[in-house]
Formats: sequence, structure tokens, C-alpha cells
Amino acid sequence: MKHSLLIVDDEPDFLHVLKSYFSFGDFEVQTAASGEAALEALAQATYDAVVTDMAMPDINGIELLKTIRQTDRYTPVIIMTGVGTIESAVEATKLGAFHYITKPFKPQDLENLVVRASEHGRMNRQLARQESEYDEGPDFVMGQSKKVRDVISMIQKVAGSDAPVLIMGETGTGKSLFARRIHLKSSRARRAFLTIDCAALAETLLESELFGHVKGAFTGAISAKRGLLEEAQGGTIFLDEIGELAPGTQVKLLRAIQEHEIKPVGGNKSIRVDVRFISATSRDLRKEIEAGNFREDLYFRLAVIPLHLPPLRDRMEDLPLFVDHFVKRFNKRYKKQIHRVDQGFMNMLKTSPWKGNVRELENAIERAVLLADDETIHMDSLLFGSPAAGGPDNREGALLLKDVIEEAEKQAIIRALAEADGNRTLAARNLGIARRTLYDKMGQYQLK
Ligand SMILES: Nc1ncnc2c1ncn2[C@@H]1O[C@H](COP(=O)(O)OP(=O)(O)OP(=O)(O)O)[C@@H](O)[C@H]1O
Ligand SMILES: [Mg+2]
Repeated sequence: MKHSLLIVDDEPDFLHVLKSYFSFGDFEVQTAASGEAALEALAQATYDAVVTDMAMPDINGIELLKTIRQTDRYTPVIIMTGVGTIESAVEATKLGAFHYITKPFKPQDLENLVVRASEHGRMNRQLARQESEYDEGPDFVMGQSKKVRDVISMIQKVAGSDAPVLIMGETGTGKSLFARRIHLKSSRARRAFLTIDCAALAETLLESELFGHVKGAFTGAISAKRGLLEEAQGGTIFLDEIGELAPGTQVKLLRAIQEHEIKPVGGNKSIRVDVRFISATSRDLRKEIEAGNFREDLYFRLAVIPLHLPPLRDRMEDLPLFVDHFVKRFNKRYKKQIHRVDQGFMNMLKTSPWKGNVRELENAIERAVLLADDETIHMDSLLFGSPAAGGPDNREGALLLKDVIEEAEKQAIIRALAEADGNRTLAARNLGIARRTLYDKMGQYQLK
């Protein structure tokens, strides 16, 4: 990705030189010949970094920085300063400038600063976005179910500590979401949160990804690379699908956790790392340990705080909350105005096994919202296109729909009967139908 850059200086020649320097490589450069012009440019577009001269006749570097900060906390500002203004440049870093550079300088030095600033700004912006997304909860459903409330109160207790957390749960139960939430509730919230998908990378690649490598460590290692553990310094590392970790990598990770130290691949110097570990798995790690696939010592290191996220089918009392939440979200995304969900649809949701858990529900609702053409989601929104669409398939669709309804009904009855231990009065009440109707339906579906 290119770094977009705004350079501000009242000296046209200097501006021209910098512009031509940065027009090669990974930059997109815009220039402004005064503080005023800079503010105008900033009103039109956002930049990954702003480089500004300190002394300018109209608005000086510090004033420009202050004005930018009034509306924008994140865009990094680098101040270029002559000898006479170093003190004010130092002052500027206290006011939130990313750095300053003293004229004359080598363009390469400015380039290095700009790249760092731009990456830093991006990370901060991303963090802020995640925070507003996850932290204040517009995108997070807590739920009423006891199981989830227990998890949440546990998170509140442990978030502040650096204790490693292991999140267990089936696919789609919210492991990644919860991992991020723990990070955002911790004192490391303003630092990096990096995810490593242990399942996605081959063993050797994963190691160099985690620990970094030195130049020449293996074919293709043309330069040294920092590992993610070092990259996350001060922050949190999220090891996703930890159960997939190869035995060799398990040993090295264990050492990193125990000693707070890593050794880049091919290197012999250890580097201190200060990171918090959160891991997640959808496997039963106890079984993996018994089968000899996962080290028990590593398990104990990672699972100081174990959290179990319940599958959706074990927290069905939260279903209406999720439905409401996702309908609102997709209303917004697809500019729809759905206010109601009909009973048939709801019943179908209630009886689905939700093997894909919250993710599957989310997808189902997205589809339903997308397909619904009035303000209600009907049963048919779940699986079929709009019934008003017409066309030769319509009859077949209607027929299928009937089957679907019957199947859903049948499943709901089986479930209700099982939950009521065969007590039909209770089952009928839980289903919200008369006992007589229940008997009729049981006959119809040949349920005894
Ligand atoms: N409590 C919740 N509130 C709102 N959305 C949720 C919640 N739990 C899960 N989701 C949503 O469900 C989807 C799946 O969640 P997430 O990716 O965290 O699951 P996961 O357990 O990490 O899945 P996988 O094992 O496949 O990695 C996401 O889109 C997430 O936003
Ligand atoms: Mg996940």
C-alpha cells in the first residue's frame, strides 16, 4: 500500500526537490506552499503523514499541528526545523508531533521517518476503529445467558492482568471477538494487537513469522525481518487455532513465554519481548495432549485463565438479542427498514442446530435482510429468494417452503418434547400452542 504524504513548506524550490524525491517508490505526494494551503488540502483528503516546515509566514508548524489535532488525533505530523527553531520543534513533539528532523537532512532520513510515522498512524487509527467497534459495544452482544455472563465477568477480572488467556469454543462462537475485547479492556489497549493464525502457515514460515529471521537464515531471507512477537512489543499477541501448532514450534513458543525472550531464526542473539498471550482453539486440547499432539506444559502456560465460549445452541435465550442486533446492523448496511421478524422465521431460527454458531446466524440474517422486500423478515427470507420475484421457479419454491416449514415444526416439537421429558402439556406450553394442536401435529409427523 502506498503512503500518502502531504509536504508543507513555504520555499518552492525545497518543496519541489522533496516532491521529486518522494515521487519514486511507495509514496503519493501532495504539496502545500503555506499553512493555509495545507489546511485546505487536509480538508479535502486524509494523509498517512504530514511533513511540515516549522517557520512559515502565515501559520507556522506548531500552529498547523495544533489545528490538525483539534479534529484529528491520529495523522502523524513530522516537523522540519532549521537550527534556530529546534527548541520549538522539541516543544512540538510534546504537543503530539510524531518527530522532528533538522535541516539540512538526507532525504533518506526523512523517508525512514515518514514510513514509520505512516505505519504508526495506521495502526493507531485501526486500534481506534476497533475500539469504537468493539469496546462501546455497538457490535457486541453480551447476552442474558448465565454462561456468557460468567465469561464476561471473568474477562473483567482478568483483563487488567497480564495472565495468558486460552479461549475455547466451537467455530463461530466469538473467540476472536472476545480475544480482542480482552485486549481492549487491558492496560495494553493502546498498543498493538496482532493475530497469528497458527493453522494458516507452514511450520518454518510460522517460526520466522513469530520470531523473525536474520538475513540469510534460509533461501529467500534476503534481509532480516522482525518477528510478530517483537512487533507486538508492549501489546498483545493472539494465537488463533493454537491446537494446530507443530511440535517443534510448541517448544520454541514455550521458551518464549517462560523466558520472555525470542531468538530470530538463524540468529543467536536473544531479544527480550514483553507481550501478553491470548490463544484460542476449537479443538479439545486435553484430548490432543492425551494423543501426544500438544505439550501439556505449553497448555498450562497458555491456559492460566481458561475461558469456554458456549455454542449458540446452549445459549438460545440470547437468540432474540442476536437477531435484533444483526437485523439492525444489516438494515444499516443495506439501507433497509426491517422492523419485524415473523414468528415462523423466529421458530426456524430457534430450531436450527447452528453448527456454525453466531457466525452462521449472522450470515443467515444478512441473507434474510438482503432478500426481504418489505419491513418484515418472513420465513422464506431465510432460504429462498423473494417470493414476489415470479418466474417459473415460483411453484417449486412454494412447495419447498412448505416442506421447510413442516420440517422446522417437526424439529421444534421433537426438541420441545425432549426438553420437557416427554411431558406433552409442558411441551405444548413451551411451544406456545394448544395441547390439542400438539397431538394433531404429532400424529401428522408420526411422532409418539
Ligand atoms: N457476542 C457477540 N456479539 C456480536 N457478534 C458476535 C458475538 N460473538 C460472535 N459474533 C460474530 O460472529 C462471527 C464469528 O465470531 P468470531 O470470528 O469471533 O468466532 P471464532 O470463534 O473466532 O470463529 P473461528 O473458530 O471460526 O475462528 C463474527 O462476525 C462476530 O462478530
Ligand atoms: Mg476466530
